[in-house]
Amino acid sequence: MTHLIRSFEEYQAAYRRSVADPEGFWGEVASDFQWRRPWDRVLEWNFTEPAVKWFAGGKLNVTENCLDRHLAERGDQTAILWEPNDPEEHYRKFTYRELHAKVSQFAHVLRNNGVRKGDRVCLYLPMVPELAIAVLACARMGAIHSVVFGGFSAQSIADRIRDAGCSLVITADGGFRGSKEIPLKSVIDDALVQCPSVRKTIVLTRSRSPVSMIKGRDAWWEDEIKKVETMGNPDFPAEEMDAEDPLFILYTSGSTGKPKGVVHTGAGYLVYAHYTFVNVFGYQPGEVHFCTADIGWITGHSYILYGPLAAGATTLLFEGVPTWPDAGRLWEVVQKYRVNILYTAPTAIRSLMGFGLEYVQGKDLSSLTKLGSVGEPINEEAWHWFDEHIGGGRCPIVDTWWQTETGGIMISPIAGVTPTKPGYATLPLPGVQPLLVDENGREIEGNGVSGNLCLRFPWPGMIRTTYGDHERCRLNYFATYPNLYFTGDGCLRDQDGYYRITGRVDDVLNVSGHRIGTAEVENAINLYTDVVESAVVGYPHGVKGQGIYAYVVCINHQRDEDLTRRDIAATVTRAIGAIARPDKIQFVTGLPKTRSGKIMRRILRKIAEGETTDLGDTSTLLDPAVVEEIRAGVLVTKGG
Ligand code: WTA
Repeated sequence: MTHLIRSFEEYQAAYRRSVADPEGFWGEVASDFQWRRPWDRVLEWNFTEPAVKWFAGGKLNVTENCLDRHLAERGDQTAILWEPNDPEEHYRKFTYRELHAKVSQFAHVLRNNGVRKGDRVCLYLPMVPELAIAVLACARMGAIHSVVFGGFSAQSIADRIRDAGCSLVITADGGFRGSKEIPLKSVIDDALVQCPSVRKTIVLTRSRSPVSMIKGRDAWWEDEIKKVETMGNPDFPAEEMDAEDPLFILYTSGSTGKPKGVVHTGAGYLVYAHYTFVNVFGYQPGEVHFCTADIGWITGHSYILYGPLAAGATTLLFEGVPTWPDAGRLWEVVQKYRVNILYTAPTAIRSLMGFGLEYVQGKDLSSLTKLGSVGEPINEEAWHWFDEHIGGGRCPIVDTWWQTETGGIMISPIAGVTPTKPGYATLPLPGVQPLLVDENGREIEGNGVSGNLCLRFPWPGMIRTTYGDHERCRLNYFATYPNLYFTGDGCLRDQDGYYRITGRVDDVLNVSGHRIGTAEVENAINLYTDVVESAVVGYPHGVKGQGIYAYVVCINHQRDEDLTRRDIAATVTRAIGAIARPDKIQFVTGLPKTRSGKIMRRILRKIAEGETTDLGDTSTLLDPAVVEEIRAGVLVTKGG
């Protein structure tokens, strides 16, 4: 494999080259791919509009690079291993040849159901191989996929379907997660009441629970496949796509309004996902890669599907949860498939740590060679536990910092190459040019400094636009500091020049590694009939990293508080999904506001964090008495 970094000196050389000659650097990396037509220019860009084009004029198809390209050399190698939710159910596996055939077949199903190049398709599926097949089938025929995580509510799905103008939805009758069954089809039925753009839905059989099928709109996956079989299963030649044609939309939360549709385009995204996968994890041919994320998030897109498949790796898809049937499940899976690379989240590690070592002991984890972490800062205790008890002290840990918008890993050790430091994402990968700025956008140079993390130069995997609203993309990421991409994260650069992400500096929470906007949760709480207004902040939570703390002003003070708490939590679950349920709800008679009416979150955050004495400057408050009341009330607040 080319472009694989093997030593720290090679990393430094690659990094220097990527800064001095980005076009030469990425042009060489991209030349490993199969192109239908070579690019005219590697990069055209400005951050003011913003307008960024990688490999402009080039033509290719992403699935030709993830599937067809591998057939000659490793057609019979396993591409996807699937571990079901229930360990008693039989696992499944697909070789590259089989996956290629399935993807071709399902691309026909999409076409037979009226999907054309450029159409948007929404996927709301459990973690089953058919989700991977459907994603790749979209890419093969040039449709833009929008995967929605199976935990989102009907309302959230409807918002996403309408925003993207999806014409087709792919779902399942139901899905399994641990001991729960999720009625996916019935959630979709509720969502589609508000979605006139959707003409068809395709429903996979998974849970076999009864669902209602709407005539003319709903078709069974299996019946549609049979139709293609009667056609004699013709091949589906990959559609020729422009390098900058959109590959997918993925919705993510920001500090204001509804989630935005982050748009990634084909060539740059694939080149970046592949390059970062092979280098960060030091991927060796034949290794089994297990990323525990859900394909509904960017981590699943880049490091369950596109990165590993572009590299011709064996990627493991797990339908279940780490704690069912017991807290040893992940280690069970590692042992069963002789997993080499394990990529997971700090929240999962902390949760499993809490169950004790008895679930790790006796499991054969000797196949592991590399460990990874993503989604939030990893605390030292979790880092050491992971290192010692899972990696047996012999596996490098890569703490990978990146975002939905960056498409792939940005700041991270290269496994076995970069000396690590617990809690540090360490150094930027080749092609990544980070800098720290102060509130006024002035660069903070030198080491041993903190600031807001920005990027000064484009990289192939970066966001191109927010779907249907380019101005929103500009305002959100490129307008805070002129000519820079602003990440929304705070960051420390220590004496050695190592980066440590300190968390969001905007009104975005990170709950169990999932991004949730405080405004989104507030809007959901405010839907409840008795609520006048609310303010949501994060607070440190032992397992989730951050918990959701809501201050709520109600009209009806007579009602039983616990009952109201339950109703509010249920309202949020219905509006967004269970991931946004407040952990704590405190009823207050007013919120601390400035004279201009702005809620002083800084004070609310401090109180939620348990700080009740030093609240900082409260002199600009309209009504300082409110703070006294909130401070007194915090003691009686119960869980939500
Ligand atoms: C946070 C997930 C510290 C950060 C890939 C970022 C991290 C947000 C790390 C993106 C890490 C992600 N250390 N913080 N290694 N990785 N984050 O879009 O705040 O779901 O901005 O992408 O997660 O979350 P997203």
